[in-house]
Amino acid sequence: MASIKSSTNSFPPEVLPRFIVFEGLDGAGTTTQSRRLADRIRSAGHAAVLTAEPTPGPIGQHIRAVLSGKERATDVTMAYLFAADRSEHLDDPEHGIRAELARSRYVVCDRYLFSSLAYQGSLCGFELVQMLNAPFALPEHLVFLDLPSETGLERIKSRSLSEIYETAGFQDTVYHAYRQALQQYADCNMQIHRVDGSRDPETIAEEIWSRLAITPIL
Ligand code: TYD
Repeated sequence: MASIKSSTNSFPPEVLPRFIVFEGLDGAGTTTQSRRLADRIRSAGHAAVLTAEPTPGPIGQHIRAVLSGKERATDVTMAYLFAADRSEHLDDPEHGIRAELARSRYVVCDRYLFSSLAYQGSLCGFELVQMLNAPFALPEHLVFLDLPSETGLERIKSRSLSEIYETAGFQDTVYHAYRQALQQYADCNMQIHRVDGSRDPETIAEEIWSRLAITPIL
């Protein structure tokens, strides 16, 4: 894997304070934990926006149609679509992540560019995906919910396995790609929290809360 430092002019990328991202394999619990964290931040007296990628916007909807098999797109096209969806998500002047942060809110996001590095990087080459995502700012905190791919797949068995990425072999590849991608960011100002995602949701939420050390407003 090429070093990220060689292909971007502005490494390390900008880090956005109060922006928190959850990442992990399918079934790792990113949706559950991002919801819990946003609620907890609000209970501590701060404003928090909960958001996710793919977004509900037009590009995100098209991505979901491909993920479910209703539409088709090449792996490279998907890398472009995720990056385009992210660009809108970050910079929409009204509801974008930057706009929400500028209102002094916390933004908690279920998946971000590290999903692209891990999933699309595994499918169409890390360098292309890294290049497409190089312009995007990083979160202050990245929470990686770490669990073996078999455990993730076991958890999502009860849901329909319609999504094109939810196969055992592919999830295993993505797991290794995540670990490599996170290593590339070890020297940034972004704080990376690798959390054991195989435990019960309450225990995981407590660990995340204590790691982020967000001061409550009294
Ligand atoms: P997710 O919303 O976590 O799944 P669901 O809500 O259906 O449980 O993510 C949808 C899928 O999209 C998931 O398999 C990860 C994948 N994905 C990428 O491949 N690249 C990306 O950049 C993002 C944000 C998600």
